Amino acid sequence: MKSIKDLDIMQTLNFTLIGERICEKCDSKVPVYEKNGEKISHCLNCERLKLSKELTEGYEPPKRRLLSDRAKAIEFIPSDLEYVTFDDYIPKTESQMEAKQISLDYIKGKHTAILLNGDPGTGKSHLFRCIARELEKQTVDWKENGRTYKVRKIALFAKVPELMKLIQRTYNNKKIGLTEEIILDTLATVDVLILDEIAGERSKREPNGFETWSGDIIYQILDRRQGKQNLYNLNYSSAEVKKKYDETPGKRILSRMASGAKMLKVDGPDHRMKGAN
Ligand SMILES: Nc1ncnc2c1ncn2[C@@H]1O[C@H](COP(=O)(O)OP(=O)(O)OP(=O)(O)O)[C@@H](O)[C@H]1O
Ligand SMILES: [Mg+2]
Ligand SMILES: [Zn+2]
Repeated sequence: MKSIKDLDIMQTLNFTLIGERICEKCDSKVPVYEKNGEKISHCLNCERLKLSKELTEGYEPPKRRLLSDRAKAIEFIPSDLEYVTFDDYIPKTESQMEAKQISLDYIKGKHTAILLNGDPGTGKSHLFRCIARELEKQTVDWKENGRTYKVRKIALFAKVPELMKLIQRTYNNKKIGLTEEIILDTLATVDVLILDEIAGERSKREPNGFETWSGDIIYQILDRRQGKQNLYNLNYSSAEVKKKYDETPGKRILSRMASGAKMLKVDGPDHRMKGAN
C-alpha cells in the first residue's frame, strides 16, 4: 500500500506532469504540469528567493527600529514643507537654479554635503526637504547581530532652533524619554542629517557675551558627522557666526560645515512675501 507521503500532491490536485524545463533565471530544473489544458510551471527556487528578499527588505531589526523611532521623535519638519517636491520649486534667480541642480545631483550621490546660506524665503529648506524625501527611498546596509540588512535610509530633518529647545527640555523633564546623549548619538548615527537654520537658535548669552552652550552642541554634532551625508543651511555670514559663538568656536564650526561640502549662496525674492507689495 502507498503511504500518504508517496502520493504526489500535484497529482492529487489533478495536475499531470508533462515535462521539465530549465529556469532561465537560476538554471534549476523545473517540472511542467498541465491542468485543464493549461500549462503550469513555477520555479520554487526563485519563489523562495523572492520571498526571503521581501522579508528582509521591509524588515528593520530591533536596534535599527529604535534608531528610526528616535529620529522621528527628534525630527522637526515645518508643516508647509512636509510634502514639497522638486517640481514645486520654481527658480527665479541663477543661484536658485544652481541650488536646485546641486540638490538633484546630490540624490544621485554627487556630493557628500551641501552648505547653503542666504536670504529668507529663497527655498533652502524646501530643497533640503525634497532631498530628504528622495533619499528615504534609497537603501543602505545595516549590520546587526552579525547579519547585514538592506534598510531604508533615515534622513533626519532637524530645525536647529527647535532641536535646541528639545535638548533644553530633556534637562528638567525625564518623562520625554530622550536625553541629550541619546539625541546627540541619534544625530551622529542617522544616514543623512539636515541641519536647518544653523545659528537661528536663541540661547542664553554667557557673561562673556557669547552663546557658548548652543555653539558647543552644534560643534559636537558637526564634529561627529564629518564624512557623512549632511545638509546644512543658515541665514548668517561667517562673520555673524563668529560674533555669535566667539571667534575660535565660530571658526571651528565654520570649518566643519565647509569640510567636503558643496557651498552656495542663494539669493532671490522672499517667496513668503509673494503677493505682498
Ligand atoms: N523657488 C520657489 N518655488 C516655489 N516655492 C518656493 C520657492 N522658494 C520658496 N518656496 C516656498 O516658500 C516657503 C519658504 O521657503 P523655505 O522655507 O524653503 O525658505 P528658506 O530659504 O529656507 O527660508 P529661511 O532662510 O527663512 O528659512 C515654503 O513654503 C516653500 O515651499
Ligand atoms: Mg529655512
Ligand atoms: Zn529559478
